[in-house]
Amino acid sequence: MHKLGIIGYGGMAGYHVKELRKYERLTVKGIYDLNPEREVIAAESGLVVYPSKEALLEDHEIDIVLIATTNEVHKELAIEALRAGKHVICEKPVTMNSEELLEIMAVEKETGNFFTINQNRRTNKDFVLMRRSVEQGLIGEPYVIESRVEGSRGMPKGWRTIKSLGGGMMLDWGVHLIDQLMYMIPEKVVDVYCKMYSIEYPEVDDNFRLVMTFESGLTAQIEVSTNNYITHPRWYVLGKDGTLQIDNWDCNGKIVRCIDKENVWEDEIVYTKAGPTKTMAPRRSESIEELTLTEPMDVVDSITVVYDNLIDAIEGKAPLTITSAQALEVMKVMERAFRCQELHRC
Ligand SMILES: NC(=O)c1ccc[n+]([C@@H]2O[C@H](COP(=O)([O-])OP(=O)(O)OC[C@H]3O[C@@H](n4cnc5c(N)ncnc54)[C@H](O)[C@@H]3O)[C@@H](O)[C@H]2O)c1
Repeated sequence: MHKLGIIGYGGMAGYHVKELRKYERLTVKGIYDLNPEREVIAAESGLVVYPSKEALLEDHEIDIVLIATTNEVHKELAIEALRAGKHVICEKPVTMNSEELLEIMAVEKETGNFFTINQNRRTNKDFVLMRRSVEQGLIGEPYVIESRVEGSRGMPKGWRTIKSLGGGMMLDWGVHLIDQLMYMIPEKVVDVYCKMYSIEYPEVDDNFRLVMTFESGLTAQIEVSTNNYITHPRWYVLGKDGTLQIDNWDCNGKIVRCIDKENVWEDEIVYTKAGPTKTMAPRRSESIEELTLTEPMDVVDSITVVYDNLIDAIEGKAPLTITSAQALEVMKVMERAFRCQELHRC
């Protein structure tokens, strides 16, 4: 049985503990947090509360350390844990920038201990549903993938609004959405354009719009909004033979695709309230079919998937699936996005 020690026992670490409650390959032994209130909560739920991070790292029973602090200290804590002989699972974003990640990667190599990142959204059902549908060829070759998460309540207060602590929506949500698409599409990203907005919090991006182009020409458009009162679909994908839409967090959606390649044109111009059109006039209903998309019930979407893989790697049963090398590529895209924003062009 593996034993987990947690550094940074805030909201997300609490979620890990909840998800791991019935998990059979690991037990959560204890935590270290700077905040005494979090120590009380941990003690009340039966966890050991270590007086210092050194004390946690010196506990020989602990072989895996979760780092779930704010982002600005991920690097130093990851390096200390690896050097203390622990395997590490680090919350996303792995670090503040690629230089910090390269420092961790050097220590990962030097110690031979495993280091993975909680990019847990790779198993989210909406993403898996979109990916499967595209990979099954249901809309033909995809050429645009639009991925959006949108809220209207602004950003949560606290560290997410502070740049030096790794705040902002690019590092918070962008890292997930970019990771999903780079995981799905194993191609070089040849171009990145990004516009960020600071609607409520001047220090950080609370909204952004990113376009990244893969080597094949496939374009991904990623948008994160916190001031959006009318939402777009969560996913909107254009393929050469059809269009996919997943509407919302409940994974409801549809595919509309062409079943009549002949594409017989009406001769007449269509007159609408918004003026006449021929090109944009609706097609004959017999030339398309609609498929309903619903929640994929076979998908296991849990943090335990990430722990399973880390433990398999430790036990020599499988390679790591979420690696620092992948995280580095995602980090580089985010850095290009920040540079684009600073220069007001790319
Ligand atoms: N994977 C996901 O879906 C997901 C979701 C939410 C948050 N996160 C990530 O989890 C991490 C924590 O986010 P959160 O929402 O739980 O924040 P939080 O503010 O609720 O918790 C952070 C905790 O870290 C503690 N802390 C800060 N610096 C510390 C240090 N040097 N040593 C010990 N403890 C320290 C704080 O006291 C706090 O209790 C962030 O990296 C965040 O991006 C990931």
